[in-house]
Amino acid sequence: MTELVTTVGAFQDFCQHARRPLALVPTLGALHEGHASLVRQARSDCATVAVSVFVNPTQFDASRDLERYPRPLEEDMALLRQAGADIVFAPSVEEVYPEGFVTLVECSGPALGLEGAARPGHFQGVTTVVTKLLAMAQPDAAYFGQKDAQQLAVVRRLVTDLNIPVRIQAVSTVREADGLAMSSRNSALSPEDRAAARVVYRSLSAVVDLYGRGQMEASELEAGCRHVLESEPRIDRIDYVALVDPITFAPASPADGNPVLFLVAVRFGDTRLLDNVVLGG
Ligand code: PAJ
Repeated sequence: MTELVTTVGAFQDFCQHARRPLALVPTLGALHEGHASLVRQARSDCATVAVSVFVNPTQFDASRDLERYPRPLEEDMALLRQAGADIVFAPSVEEVYPEGFVTLVECSGPALGLEGAARPGHFQGVTTVVTKLLAMAQPDAAYFGQKDAQQLAVVRRLVTDLNIPVRIQAVSTVREADGLAMSSRNSALSPEDRAAARVVYRSLSAVVDLYGRGQMEASELEAGCRHVLESEPRIDRIDYVALVDPITFAPASPADGNPVLFLVAVRFGDTRLLDNVVLGG
């Protein structure tokens, strides 16, 4: 049985009485196999699985994005039932941000560059809502996808800095058959752009190949990635190609001897696609 609740009170009440360990899987809804894999992982680790489905307005920089974000709650419920969620918290905006709400959680460090620079205010919205969800549910573990590696680093920093007693569990990226990382944004691509989007994964595979053949220079790895991306004329813009430390998000190089994260963000029209791969470690 998967219960659906829409009020903070009912959600808190359920979580307070839930069998432990309790897992929380925060989502924006419009769920796909990537989300399902977070829920399945939580299901196999924990006695109770809570999922939030909330299109959080404070993390959207463009109001058009917020308006056009899909909200297929019935399909989401079906997927969550199948994946084994015990409770789904799908509140209204007013329930989460009632009149008089003025407290925001702001993270710097890993939140500053890349997505933080491309989307001002985005991570403040994420850290604020994640703090609220963790405070409501008080879970033993919370599940986040490696797909959004910077968000994962920001959330890890958040719970450390604010002494929130929760284990943050990372889950590997789930991909389509052609390698494209699953994302609710993929459905906004035209069929031609969708076909071309496989180049993102190809560009990361080229980096893994170069690295596997002993290339340790950040500039060479980045050039190798750009070379593949630039071969696809349907890409409107490469927002960034970057090598960073997976914890701090400071620029890093495999030549330093530690695992590094290789990230890319590109645009097809209005649609931004993100992906990443870990090198070493
Ligand atoms: P959303 O984009 O719905 O993603 C919810 C969770 O699913 C995130 O942790 C994300 O990294 C993970 N995820 C998305 N695509 C994935 C894939 N292909 N493979 C594995 N995991 C994947 O991220 C958010 O929502 C929001 O910012 C949120 C954390 C809910 C705060 O509002």
